[in-house]
Amino acid sequence: MSLKREIGFLLNGVETHATVPVDLSALSMLRDLLGLTGTKYACGEGECGACTIVVDGVSTCSCLQFAVDCDGRTLTTIEGVAGDPLGAKIEQAFVDCGAVQCGFCTPGMVVQAKHFLETHPQPTRDEIKRGIEGNLCRCTGYVKIIDAIEAASRADR
Ligand code: FES
Ligand code: FES
Repeated sequence: MSLKREIGFLLNGVETHATVPVDLSALSMLRDLLGLTGTKYACGEGECGACTIVVDGVSTCSCLQFAVDCDGRTLTTIEGVAGDPLGAKIEQAFVDCGAVQCGFCTPGMVVQAKHFLETHPQPTRDEIKRGIEGNLCRCTGYVKIIDAIEAASRADR
């Protein structure tokens, strides 16, 4: 039986507590303990970005982060992005540009896009490509995703 620890953190703006096995990933804590299934499990090895969340302002593969290391931190998941004006703009642009096919990469891609646009509000297409290079998509060929992020960066300007 694995050792457990009680941790507390701010999750999408809500003070949250959980008792977690010390070997549990942040991704499993979010999905299996807290019921936030928007963050996806794909490779489980830090290679695809499907599990992207933001931890203390840093884009993070939640499959590689231990849940216990979330103690005292601020986490944003796709569920927290939806209620945010920039996040909503990005989600709409993904729909409008046809950037969603199977949708499996989309939550991680949207979280990463929001994180990127917060620090690059008027990016070039090359900057957008580099901004999402850690997020893999097997369906779209990336062009429509880049179109969507570019469109979101231009909306209401
Ligand atoms: S599931 Fe975490 S990077 Fe692929
Ligand atoms: S839309 Fe299918 S993996 Fe990106």
